[in-house]
Amino acid sequence: MTQDELKQAVARAAIDYVVDGEIIGVGTGSTANFFIDELAKIKQRIKGAVASSEATAARLAGHGIAVFDLNDVAEIAVYIDGADEITAAGAMIKGGGAALTREKIVASVSKQFVCIADGSKLVETMGKFALPVEVLPMARAAVTRQLAALGGQPKLRLKPGTDQAFITDNGGMIIDVAGLAISEPVALEQRINQIVGVIAVGLFAQRGANVCLLGTPDGVRTLT
Ligand code: 5RP
Repeated sequence: MTQDELKQAVARAAIDYVVDGEIIGVGTGSTANFFIDELAKIKQRIKGAVASSEATAARLAGHGIAVFDLNDVAEIAVYIDGADEITAAGAMIKGGGAALTREKIVASVSKQFVCIADGSKLVETMGKFALPVEVLPMARAAVTRQLAALGGQPKLRLKPGTDQAFITDNGGMIIDVAGLAISEPVALEQRINQIVGVIAVGLFAQRGANVCLLGTPDGVRTLT
């Protein structure tokens, strides 16, 4: 099976976690996109969705799914999203698609986080995938120095094919920190959250996934 077929399989399996009559939180990225396409097939069963990025909002709306502003929603039954790395305990690195801040916000008001990922994302220790950190542009250099002091190699994310900084949906910049072996994800998340100028860190450990649907050649594995 190709990686896309594995992503499609977990996207299909995630439909079982959709709660009828509710508003669903929807993540960002290629796996989330497959999920949105599956959600479209049962859109009459849900009230609508809260999106974690402008791209997701556009894809949901393109399928005729009502997109709600989070400010108008008190609680979300389930949030479904991909990950760049996930441990068996449900801690994740996210933000490869630069949507980490909104993903964290939508996840924070969701009762259940269902992670959907192809099997290559399961790791014992996170950090091989460079850890994304969203920062306010004026704090870019100051935060970069502090991230380097933590032992990583921070690098400003650029708009593909340019030497211009990538700008997020929130007007932030992304610093990708390579070379961290993340043995204590909760402590590192708290430490980076304390750096002034950081908008959000792509470590989802304090609030990890409740369920992970992993796509493998032998079928979808469920980790809880
Ligand atoms: C976006 C994310 C994505 O969930 C993560 O990058 C995984 O993406 P994909 O499903 O394309 O592998 O965190 O900010």
